[in-house]
Amino acid sequence: MTDMHPSLLEMSGIVKHFGGLTAVAGVDLELERGEVLAIVGDNGAGKSTLIKILTGVFVPDEGEIKMEGVPVRIGNRRDARALGIEAVYQSLALVDALDAAGNVFLGHELRRSFMGIRLLDNARMAAEATRVLKDNVGIELDNLSEPTIHLSGGQRQAVAIARAIYHADLKVLVMDEPTASLGPEETRNTLALIRGLKEQGMALIVISHNLDHVFAIADRVMVMRNGRCSGIRSTAEATKRDVLGLIVSEEAAAAA
Ligand SMILES: Nc1ncnc2c1ncn2[C@@H]1O[C@H](COP(=O)(O)OP(=O)(O)OP(=O)(O)O)[C@@H](O)[C@H]1O
Ligand SMILES: [Mg+2]
Repeated sequence: MTDMHPSLLEMSGIVKHFGGLTAVAGVDLELERGEVLAIVGDNGAGKSTLIKILTGVFVPDEGEIKMEGVPVRIGNRRDARALGIEAVYQSLALVDALDAAGNVFLGHELRRSFMGIRLLDNARMAAEATRVLKDNVGIELDNLSEPTIHLSGGQRQAVAIARAIYHADLKVLVMDEPTASLGPEETRNTLALIRGLKEQGMALIVISHNLDHVFAIADRVMVMRNGRCSGIRSTAEATKRDVLGLIVSEEAAAAA
């Protein structure tokens, strides 16, 4: 992109070593507003490491990150969050004993005054959580008041997304294998959720091992191999076989 219209996100020359191992060996990534970018590649290719650099879990050894054309420093998760970059993991970051609304408002509780006493406004939090889940995440929970430990993996993920949307000016949502441990119906719901977020103009980076899912949701797919990008393809123009060829070595693809 030109400087007149910079991409939403630009990562360039990203390198990350773990001791003697190079997990990410000089990767560029660009993401536009409203775009779903999938990252695929074999186990150990460096996918999670790359997005953990974006979300502030790891600091890169080399490379530059720009948001809307402006160089940024992401030293920790709070820095990423302040830039509107959030990662959502199925297993992570919900308090099991709280219900969905309690989790959406955790640390940002809504209160009301009753005879001069500040009380939690549970009714308003429940109503707001219901609204965000329905309008922004596209899911209606019939078990809104259950502790979230009783929710399914997909529902928990939806609550985590609702929280991210509610409290931040969310610009980039990162999902690392969002359908990995979901059943068929939950998987369909999560793919629909991703499409719904894209329709609202959200940009998403989704790591997946499932090319059917990738082709169902992504605009572009970036293939990583041995810490490098081995190709980027538009899902409208490429086939799954093309992408598979980039994931495995060229020789293996030719033999398949
Ligand atoms: N915290 C860490 N300490 C040391 N090595 C790590 C660490 N995290 C990842 N690695 C190594 O970096 C390489 C890339 O790992 P990464 O998790 O990024 O791969 P991945 O593409 O996400 O794989 P998968 O598809 O299995 O999730 C691997 O060799 C891995 O063992
Ligand atoms: Mg991974």
